[in-house]
Amino acid sequence: MKRIAVFTSGGDAPGMNACIRAVVRGAMYHKVEVFGIRRGYSGMIEGDIYPMTSRDVSNIIQRGGTILKSARSRRFTTAEGRQQAYDNLKALGIEGLVAIGGNGTFTGAEIFFNEFKIPTVGAPGTIDNDLYGTDYTIGYDTAVNTSLDAIDKIRDTADSHDRVFFIEVMGRDSGYIAIQSGIGGGAEFVVVPEDLSEPVSSVIKTLKQGFVKKKSSSIVVVAEGEKEGRATEIAEKIKKSIDVEVDIRVTTLGHIQRGGVPSAYDRILASRLGLGAIEGLLRGQKNVMTGIVNNRLVYTPFIECITKDKPISDDLLRMVHILS
Ligand code: F6P
Repeated sequence: MKRIAVFTSGGDAPGMNACIRAVVRGAMYHKVEVFGIRRGYSGMIEGDIYPMTSRDVSNIIQRGGTILKSARSRRFTTAEGRQQAYDNLKALGIEGLVAIGGNGTFTGAEIFFNEFKIPTVGAPGTIDNDLYGTDYTIGYDTAVNTSLDAIDKIRDTADSHDRVFFIEVMGRDSGYIAIQSGIGGGAEFVVVPEDLSEPVSSVIKTLKQGFVKKKSSSIVVVAEGEKEGRATEIAEKIKKSIDVEVDIRVTTLGHIQRGGVPSAYDRILASRLGLGAIEGLLRGQKNVMTGIVNNRLVYTPFIECITKDKPISDDLLRMVHILS
């Protein structure tokens, strides 16, 4: 393989730049030409593809976001869009791809590979940590720390005013950010989609137990992907059903969780996964995502990464109840 391209797609995640840097420098180390595709599949379709050198990735390891920019492409879901993308890659002689992204990115990569057979290796870049085939995804650690910082600050005001705060964190279908930041922030309750029990009565029970223990303020962390509704709806239901007076507020953390300087953990993880992706591609891996499982680099077929569940350990859910 003489020429490859790298792109980022889906929601940006802190550490994506460190991953791009590792792919570019890894390719150059192996004397392979590397191109960058801007805005993921959208840029592939529009032909927004440019040659990269080592200098293009200088001074980016510490930066959040992605220098290649990112997008969620509707056109790539059409056969016509994918054909255009393939034609552009072929015209430039690109023989392999490194895709940095999450579930949607690898769903696209799987379809594209089946149609055009361009070898593609993925690196998991999403704050959600919801991909099977890796213990941690790039950006997750930084997002948890950002959420934790916000929870600590909100706890100050919750305590000063004797309030119950519902804090909504990201995670489209998963509660990973919620459970980690909830445990780290000493939350009284964490509402996650993986916990199948009905949250309203459980939260009320926990809050009441807190009042008995003379707690005057509480933090409930809610994952945005919770099936019973968003934090505002859950808080509203609780307000209506609880038979004691509580002063409730809701804070949605939103996109601050996606930005910022990547943590040390994320920079190192991204570097390992980026180098693992390019070296895997050059060794003949295709249609797989690189991940770290039990501290070892592994490659897992895209189809497994996007279809298999990655359950949150029961231990963690249990711990919130015991320690609150
Ligand atoms: O997948 C990452 C993520 O931040 C999810 O946690 C969230 O549901 C989604 O992206 C938000 O996407 P957008 O930025 O397109 O609104």
